[in-house]
Amino acid sequence: MESLGVLLTFPMNPYLEEELSKRCKLFRLWESPTPEARRDFVRANAGSIRAVVGNATVGADSDTIDLLPGLEIVASFSVGLDKVDLAKCREKGIRVTNTPDVLTEDVADLAIGLAISTMRRICESDRYVRAGKWKSHGDYKLTTKFSGKTVGILGLGRIGSAIAKRAEAFGCPISYYSRSQKPDTGYKYYSNVLDLAANCQVLVVACPLTEETRHIINREVIDALGPKGVLINIGRGPHVDEPELVKALVEGRLGGAGLDVYEHEPHVPEELFALENVVLLPHVGSGTWETRKAMADLVLGNLEAHVLNKPLLTPVV
Ligand code: DGY
Repeated sequence: MESLGVLLTFPMNPYLEEELSKRCKLFRLWESPTPEARRDFVRANAGSIRAVVGNATVGADSDTIDLLPGLEIVASFSVGLDKVDLAKCREKGIRVTNTPDVLTEDVADLAIGLAISTMRRICESDRYVRAGKWKSHGDYKLTTKFSGKTVGILGLGRIGSAIAKRAEAFGCPISYYSRSQKPDTGYKYYSNVLDLAANCQVLVVACPLTEETRHIINREVIDALGPKGVLINIGRGPHVDEPELVKALVEGRLGGAGLDVYEHEPHVPEELFALENVVLLPHVGSGTWETRKAMADLVLGNLEAHVLNKPLLTPVV
């Protein structure tokens, strides 16, 4: 792959960066500090760049693609491709790969972890102990049970299905809304997200971000979930109308939220910091050593297959 010029958009993984720098000619986009400098950098190196490796933060948008006439492949270090202009890639014949399957377990584990942490107030309890507030047994408030609660899943793809399996092990009845009803799941299907929210206690967002799913969790859905309901988002921040979510949490119209993603990452609405019924994570769904290594190996394998003219490992376009 020595001749392959790769634009790496973000410092996403040290192993991936090291392997890419050993195997290809690497261009590090983030080292240019401003949008203008980054544009100039891409323009200046466009003649050499044939591949973009992006992630869930910085992918390959329309402007970047337009600056790269020799672009052949976008290999994303993520399963979600909302930061890649897929339509433009299709139109220009640029290949696109992502990293499905290898991160499913971690993201599903985290969704359950977030639900339990939020409902059992694990982070709040941890803060309580660390602050030296625990003076005697029985002086702490009670929390909400997770086992047996109805879990509603928005998006029953690979990750949504893995969340469902895990929640089933906790005795939770599963319901879901997906673009289409899946055969033979045994789960209750709702044909819209509002009915799903009205009939579950824990609503988990696990679908890809598209124009159809942007702000799918709006005020009406949040109110349908209600003061006893909990929202878990391990999908993408823009799935949720964030100001409405914040308002509902502050006003007590929603029981709680466990969030791994936000509308304008890395910005997290400050009002959430004061609330004990929310658990806030910095977009770490796939963030284990094992999974990030597997994701990196998929990116490297896809680039290698592309150069060798072999079938891509995980083609999307
Ligand atoms: C993905 O792969 O899309 C995740 O959000 C990255 O952590």
